[in-house]
Amino acid sequence: MTARIPYRTLSGTSRLAGVMGWPVSHSKSPRLHGYWLAKYGIDGSYMPLPVEPENFQAALMSLRNLGFSGVNVTIPQKEMAMPECDELSDRARRIGAVNTVTFAKDGRLLGDNTDGFGFIENLRQEAPGIDFTSGPAVVLGAGGASRAILVALLDEESPEIRIANRTRKRAEDVTREFNDPRLKVIDWPVSPEALSDVALLVNTTSLGMVGQPKLDIDLDGLPTSALVTDIVYAPLVTDLLAQARERGNPIVDGLGMLLHQARPGFHRWFGIDPEVTQELRDFVLSPD
Ligand code: ATR
Repeated sequence: MTARIPYRTLSGTSRLAGVMGWPVSHSKSPRLHGYWLAKYGIDGSYMPLPVEPENFQAALMSLRNLGFSGVNVTIPQKEMAMPECDELSDRARRIGAVNTVTFAKDGRLLGDNTDGFGFIENLRQEAPGIDFTSGPAVVLGAGGASRAILVALLDEESPEIRIANRTRKRAEDVTREFNDPRLKVIDWPVSPEALSDVALLVNTTSLGMVGQPKLDIDLDGLPTSALVTDIVYAPLVTDLLAQARERGNPIVDGLGMLLHQARPGFHRWFGIDPEVTQELRDFVLSPD
């Protein structure tokens, strides 16, 4: 009788991927990809790969040489991955960071940034029928996450994007760099007037995250039709989202951005464009 093995084993042809970062222990990616691997019955593995920044380049090349299909790259290595890639997607180049590296069959490293894709896909799933062209967007923050979202909103043909950042110069720098007349810098904190005709309000700062200060914003000027979203997902419903919901605005939490940004990598490495479902959301949020 054949022995029954209660867990899935790897074969000699398993596909391998993982997430590189320092630290990486907080990453939900192994759990997320692990769920999809099990769900689709794929012969593969996705591992946490703690790599100190000084070893980043050597580790990346080693993973390629070990036959990995690809890796996600997280803080602080998203910028470090850029010069290591032989080819960058247009969006990675514009965002200035890479979160998804694919090792091509010929050994070349292909760099992409799927954060903006994740942002857009999350809104499309959670707010069906969303029309990014319907009115101005206000984006709070001008860091790495903001850059990915700005590029994505520009590509979705948002008519105007107002950027507010504590450090105004950073918002001015990104506006100058992207050189698109639809980008405008507005004051931080945001005035009610700057919100009066807005269709989408996005928090890309770390404010409101567990352990961080609260995001203090007066939503009085915001139309109740405006969609409010936050990239913070711990807590799932941030003070901003609770405040918006209380006054009748539609809201979308940030967890889906994390889940959707993982899809292109999973698709490339394991061959299936995976689904983001409520069961997955519950699984990723549940304790390990
Ligand atoms: P990420 O890659 O997650 O975007 P980041 O590049 O460090 O991280 O950007 C963090 C963002 O949160 C920035 O817009 C930052 O504002 P500054 O450019 O002024 O630093 C914003 N942020 C963080 N802490 C903040 C605080 N206490 N008040 C206001 N903005 C804050």
